[in-house]
Amino acid sequence: LGSRNIEKATTSSATENVHKQPFVIGVAGGSASGKTTVCDMIIQQLHDQRVVLVNQDSFYHNLSEEEFARVHECNFDHPDAFDTEKLLDSMENLRHGQAVDIPNYDFKSYKSNVFPARRVNPSDVIILEGILIFHDHRVRELMNMKIFVDTDADVRLARRIRRDTVDKGRDIDTVLDQYSKFVKPAFDDFILPTKKYADIIIPRGGDNHVAVDLIVQHIRTKLGQHDLCKIYPNLYVIHSTFQI
Ligand code: CTP
Repeated sequence: LGSRNIEKATTSSATENVHKQPFVIGVAGGSASGKTTVCDMIIQQLHDQRVVLVNQDSFYHNLSEEEFARVHECNFDHPDAFDTEKLLDSMENLRHGQAVDIPNYDFKSYKSNVFPARRVNPSDVIILEGILIFHDHRVRELMNMKIFVDTDADVRLARRIRRDTVDKGRDIDTVLDQYSKFVKPAFDDFILPTKKYADIIIPRGGDNHVAVDLIVQHIRTKLGQHDLCKIYPNLYVIHSTFQI
């Protein structure tokens, strides 16, 4: 069998077998690295599966009045900016077959209660996307596959300037100040160190069609095994190590 291994497919879900456990994919990477494009391409190619996208951005804490008055001093790139307990609660419900309401964060007002929440139903595949989605080990442990989108810093900065000025209506000085004060240091201190947890690193983000095609093929294979393990808990599977 060469480098292939034979192992007994014993998953806890196989024996419980009450709810179909979703296949959870994590997609991390720096701001404006192309995470959303990669997720959209995966979703598009998995059109025959029920797939939902859950963005870490949806779990930003709301700012207090005092914080809002000094919004330019707020660090939105620090792990504490997110309500990770709420994200874990939502994932727990989805994994137990219950629909959840995911907040719709508004980048203009810095609030998550301006727009109605989005109702998300349990699905076969859940994609968790965000700059710091690999930071908390409890979130990481939910993932069956971890992808890091690796895009050069100058490309990310150029995209971010365009997006923040055009889409978010911010002025260029504010965007550059935030970048040098918070975005870049947080990338170095918190985001880049989580790259080591990735199973797959995609260079050039959404421009890398070959990588996305390979990932989708791999997800399809895994989904097949995932389903078989639930139907036949004592199934023996043959697998080989996968590398891009
Ligand atoms: N952010 C902000 N203002 C807020 C909340 C968040 O400017 N009120 C910024 C943070 O500075 C953080 C970024 O939003 O760097 C996180 O979103 P990002 O990953 O850039 O968005 P995506 O569209 O998911 O990224 P990608 O281009 O990789 O798809």
